[in-house]
Amino acid sequence: MILVTGGAGFIGSNFVLDWLAGSDEPIINLDKLTYAGNPDNFASLAKDPRHRFVHGDICDRELVAALLKQYQPRAILHFAAESHVDRSIHGPADFIRTNIDGTFSLLEAARAYSATLSDTQRESFRFLHVSTDEVFGTLGADDAPFSETTPYAPNSPYSASKAASDQLVRAWFHTYGLPVVTGNCSNNYGPLQFPEKLIPLVIANALAGKPLPIYGDGQQVRDWLYVGDHCAALRRVLADGKPGETYNIGGWNEKANIDVVHTLCDLLDELSPAAHSYREQITFVKDRPGHDRRYAIDARKIERELGWKPAETFETGMRKTVQWTLANQAWVRKVQSGEYLQWLDKNYAQREESKT
Ligand code: NAD
Ligand code: TYD
Repeated sequence: MILVTGGAGFIGSNFVLDWLAGSDEPIINLDKLTYAGNPDNFASLAKDPRHRFVHGDICDRELVAALLKQYQPRAILHFAAESHVDRSIHGPADFIRTNIDGTFSLLEAARAYSATLSDTQRESFRFLHVSTDEVFGTLGADDAPFSETTPYAPNSPYSASKAASDQLVRAWFHTYGLPVVTGNCSNNYGPLQFPEKLIPLVIANALAGKPLPIYGDGQQVRDWLYVGDHCAALRRVLADGKPGETYNIGGWNEKANIDVVHTLCDLLDELSPAAHSYREQITFVKDRPGHDRRYAIDARKIERELGWKPAETFETGMRKTVQWTLANQAWVRKVQSGEYLQWLDKNYAQREESKT
């Protein structure tokens, strides 16, 4: 069996669902259920004996050690993190705790556990660290995309905490021989994404008749990858990734934020027409401090060495995402309560409309 951390969040729950759709190998799913963790995401597995949910914190080393001892997983897939850049700007402490201390704690538990394994078991054991392209910092318009050898230059509290966790993972391989592999992935989108990130926020606001907030001039560029493609890449990395290596995972889909929002508006105009075009709800607001201008991923290594490349195009992935959101309005409404409303007030109330 495998142990997944953060499997109640966006990518983790997609991974759990995809895994069990294609394999009978059981999953232990350890998640603290922060605001971003949602057990509804795996409600379809309620009676499935292959999925065991454990409500707990990756910083709780005793709990993690007990789980490893009891279930003897052949791999740990580490998704758990604080993941939203804007939240890291408002309050970095949780990012330091979970992303750095939590990863450290997990690495130590994994190291102690791997020492109890037989030689053959230790040989095949893997610690798969799920990370981001944001550790590489920002690119100019003409710069080459990030490769696995691009130096780290994180700019936000979020990316700095993920960069620190990547470095710990690397050191546990070199110093202790823990068989780690890391995936540095670009921006994900798709079903079950919490509506604080750009794409689900814009869909939710559009349908609610609210402004669609574009930070700054909207010309910041991200590389977008459909979440199911990321999950497929992680399965390849787990199966055949080389210990100690990192793999850049991306969609070959560089888009300016304003173009992403235009695409969403046009899809909504088609699939859920209102009396006006949703583009009329676009509002430029005050920029994010330290906003990275451009991310781009060179994903040739994972294609060359592991035979992975994305199956979805931007057009097919975005259409699926909008269709899923329209078909799952109850899920959206349920997460748009209490804490979420406070967050919207904190992040957007002070961002007066700008004339950009
Ligand atoms: P998310 O915020 O949707 O989910 C994070 C999950 O981790 C939640 O279920 C939360 O409850 C859990 N968690 C948080 N702190 C915990 C703790 N201390 N102990 C146990 N569980 C805890 O995040 P996501 O978008 O699914 O991202 C998953 C991973 O992928 C993260 O490591 C993130 O850095 C990385 N990543 C995300 C993206 C993206 O675009 N979303 C891109 C590249 C990499
Ligand atoms: P986000 O989804 O928060 O991901 P990240 O910051 O990790 O890339 O944001 C994606 C891009 O969209 C980023 O350039 C910031 C921008 N953005 C907006 O313009 N408006 C918004 O309301 C949000 C949440 C993001």
